[in-house]
Formats: sequence, C-alpha cells, structure tokens
Amino acid sequence: MVDVTVKQLLGGLSAAAFLRRHWQKEPLLVRQAIGDFRGLLSRAELFKLAGRDDVESRLVRRARGRWTLAHGPFRAADLRSLPARDWTLLVQGVNLHVAAADTLLRRFAFIPYARLDDVMVSYAASGGGVGPHFDSYDVFLLQGEGRRCWNLSLQRDLTLDASLPVKILTRFRPDTEYTLDPGDMLYLPPGHAHDGVAVGACTTYSIGFRAPSAQELGTAFLDWLRDSITLEGRYADPSLAPAAEPARIDEAMKKRCSAMLAGVSWSDAVVARFLGCYLSEPKASVFFEPPSRPIGLAAFRSAAARRGISLDRRTQLLYDSRNVFLNGSAVDSTGCDTVLIERLANARHLSGVKLAGASLPRAAALALLYRWYCDGFLHLD
Ligand code: SIN
Ligand code: CO
Repeated sequence: MVDVTVKQLLGGLSAAAFLRRHWQKEPLLVRQAIGDFRGLLSRAELFKLAGRDDVESRLVRRARGRWTLAHGPFRAADLRSLPARDWTLLVQGVNLHVAAADTLLRRFAFIPYARLDDVMVSYAASGGGVGPHFDSYDVFLLQGEGRRCWNLSLQRDLTLDASLPVKILTRFRPDTEYTLDPGDMLYLPPGHAHDGVAVGACTTYSIGFRAPSAQELGTAFLDWLRDSITLEGRYADPSLAPAAEPARIDEAMKKRCSAMLAGVSWSDAVVARFLGCYLSEPKASVFFEPPSRPIGLAAFRSAAARRGISLDRRTQLLYDSRNVFLNGSAVDSTGCDTVLIERLANARHLSGVKLAGASLPRAAALALLYRWYCDGFLHLD
C-alpha cells in the first residue's frame, strides 16, 4: 500500500476542509484515494478469519428476492461452496487481527482515536450486497479488489422493513450512482441511504466510526458509577411513631431515602474518568498475549532504547488533561514523564532515541512501559 497523505486520501481536501464540508454532512467520492490499493487480504485469508469464534462475521444472501442472514463462525468449505452470485460475507474488526488493516485504520487519525471503530471487510460475489439501508455511523467505503456500484439517496424516509432479517429500507429512491474501482473511496455521513452491489466479485473495506447513543452512554455510565461509588451511612429512624397502617410507605421514609440517594452525584471530573475508561475499553473479544519469556527491566530498558516500542494493535491508550487511560482503566502515572506517554499514545510508537534518558520521570515512565510490556499491551520493535 502506498504511503498517501491525508490530502490525497481526501481527494485534495485538507482534514479541516473535509471535516467542515463533509463530515456528518455530505458524501464525498474520492477517485484513487489510495492509488495502488487492491485490498489487504486474499479471499482465503478472509474466509479463514470468518472461521474464528473470536471474530464477528455474517453472511447475507439474496435468493429469489428473499434476504437471509447467518452469523459466523463459518467453515471455509461451506463458504467455498456458495453459489456464483448474490451473497456477501462481512467480517468485522479485521484491524484487530491484521496489522495492515490497523495501519489502514490509523490513516484516519485526523479523527480522534476514540471515534475510530474498526475496519470491516466484505467479500461479495457478483450481485452481492447487504441491500438498500442506512448506517447510524460515519463510514469510509474503500474499494479493494473488483468493482462495486453504489446507489445513494438523500431521502428522509428511513423506514425499515421489519419483516426482514437484515436492515432494508422499505422504499429506496436512489438519486446518485457511482461505480468504484480499486482504490476509490466513498465517505457517507450517518443516516445517508445507500446500496452497494458487487459488479463481479469484489471486496470493500469499511472504515467505521463509533458514536454511542445517549442510551448506551447513559447505561454504561450508570454501570460504571455503581462500581465506583461509595455511599456512607444506613437507613435510621430513631423517632419512629407506631404504624397505624403498616403496609404504607410513609412520607418520612421517602424523605429519609431521598436524602440518602442525594449522595448519588457526579462532577465533571467523574464524567471525565468514566469517559476515559469507557472509550479505551477494548472490544469484548480482545485478549492480550503477554510475552512467554519476558526479559527483565534493565534488558527491556536497553532493548527499548535501541529498538523502540510499539503499542499492541489491540491496545487503546488515551489521555486527557488529568489522566491516562489504558484498555478500560485509569493508569496511575504519578511521577511519570507524561509527555512521553502522550507521544506514545498519539504515534502508537516510540523510537529508541525518545526512550533514552535517565531523569526520574523517565525512569517512572519506563517502569510503567515495562509493566505494559509484561502484560502484552506493547511490544519491543
Ligand atoms: C458492504 O461492504 O457490503 C457493506 C458496507 C455498507 O454498506 O455499509
Ligand atoms: Co452501509
């Protein structure tokens, strides 16, 4: 894959211009966004991923006008025996398993990491697709091998056919058609109706973004708050009067409980801490593999200074003005060179030179990095 600049990727627009004109607003078609792009995985490699139980995959078929949906894992032999037309296999989270797909995702780092979701790869037989639908998230659709014809619609009517196993718009009225060749890319904002049909067998790489609904965010926050809150005291009623109606919950009891619940409160700092933990939480299927024979701290220090380090592609390292968050937890970075940690979080890599140095904050940061190395969260280059 050639090394393209953000401007090339966005068809000559700067990141700022793209965000201003298109992001969450209007589609953008970029011819030859990545000139030599032909996809990152062969059909056999994708089928192999779809056979794993830690990889989310689905198969969408259309036969005699009827849509069907099946969830993986799939046996490669079953996938190989599918008909010549009208099906598509979609594999989610390919960036977690294939280094080149992670590199592709990180090309979109002009958007905060906390908004990046994953790279989904679809392989479609001729005529295959998931049907006319809309997505609730922004997406860049990068054409791998073969060609795909996209129909788009500005329609406001987003009614879905509830009788079908896949999200299909009841009425789709396309107003724009683009056929994408390898390396072409189409950006679609959330809620923009579209339908991509394979013209011959093809692969599409969807760079997807995460945007939690208020319900998801609120539920996650309340779960987190429950686990982090400590409330003092216990219900007490030393002035209790004899109960004439023992089944009644009286006003005094309500007031006492209401006063106890007033302790359930939060500040901006609490929200910031929750957010860092929530946004850096890896997907449920992610497991880290610690090195089988970790080297000691001193050897790590000199190897890191010589070779540099890189975050594991599954690691989520984020920060704000007060905290560093790693894979779902706030990190105790007291006394650490946080500039170094922030540089690692942004670049996801530190060269040896940047690790060299003997100051105390550096030593504390090195101890932290060593712990992350032992946990498999980062690796020596
Ligand atoms: C696909 O790759 O077939 C689906 C992508 C999409 O329409 O969002
Ligand atoms: Co879509």
